[in-house]
Amino acid sequence: MKAEIQTNKIVVLSGSGISAESGIPTFRDANGLWHNYSWEAVASPSGWQAHPEVVLEFYNERRLQAAEAQPNAAHLALAELESAYEVVVITQNVDDLHERAGSSNVIHVHGQLNHARGTSEARRRYRIDAAPIQLGQLCEDGTQLRPDIVWFGEDVEYLEESRRHIATAAKVLVVGTSLTVFPAASLVRAARGRAEKILVALAMDKLPYGFRFMRGKASSIVPFLCQGWLAEHQNRNLYPDSDKHAS
Ligand code: OAD
Repeated sequence: MKAEIQTNKIVVLSGSGISAESGIPTFRDANGLWHNYSWEAVASPSGWQAHPEVVLEFYNERRLQAAEAQPNAAHLALAELESAYEVVVITQNVDDLHERAGSSNVIHVHGQLNHARGTSEARRRYRIDAAPIQLGQLCEDGTQLRPDIVWFGEDVEYLEESRRHIATAAKVLVVGTSLTVFPAASLVRAARGRAEKILVALAMDKLPYGFRFMRGKASSIVPFLCQGWLAEHQNRNLYPDSDKHAS
């Protein structure tokens, strides 16, 4: 049996587009990271094996850039929703701008820049904030530290938990992602038919089934949407029976 939808639950699936206006580049837009770097070289286990120093330098730069960036109006508006809703943010982003904006329930499916981890099975994690990882810097178990990032070919984290959240949400907001990287992109399929489903991006090749497309910048559209949802919540509290009287 399917789990019940929770009227007061909003799940957000975010991608790099939400942080673009904070100065963090996306991956596939014009001048995106994957136009300037080879993902095979910097975001794959084979790249790490071949040239760990190149991989470390790439993520050391990303980490510094993310630490210097500030949350924008979209991150802040999503955090504000928590005053009225249960909000779960599932993000493909490796920055911590959702957390720094005040969101309290953030799931990072592709890892986090501000953590390092060992390379043994134990995968011990360490919070490093903006500090660089150097070649020769070891984990307690003696293995080289690496960025706590999910590279191509590695297992995405918290997938089932994320799917369960989406499947019980009354509102699903997808923002700033091209939905080209799987399995994270497949999460949208867990959204229920009855849920309100919106996708915000500058462009979208193939809109997932049942989603309404709102084209534009996250920093203007997301606050607008959130204000509407906060007003809706307030009206529901003021007139709890209004749905019953609707014809
Ligand atoms: P992409 O670069 O593939 O897509 C960025 C999306 O953001 C596009 O749909 C843009 O239209 C949209 N966008 C850009 N600027 C925006 C703005 N100001 N407001 C709203 N939308 C905007 O990035 P992702 O979908 O995040 O994985 O990429 C997914 C994964 O691919 C990443 O997590 C990363 C990458 O390889 C790993 O590194 C494992």
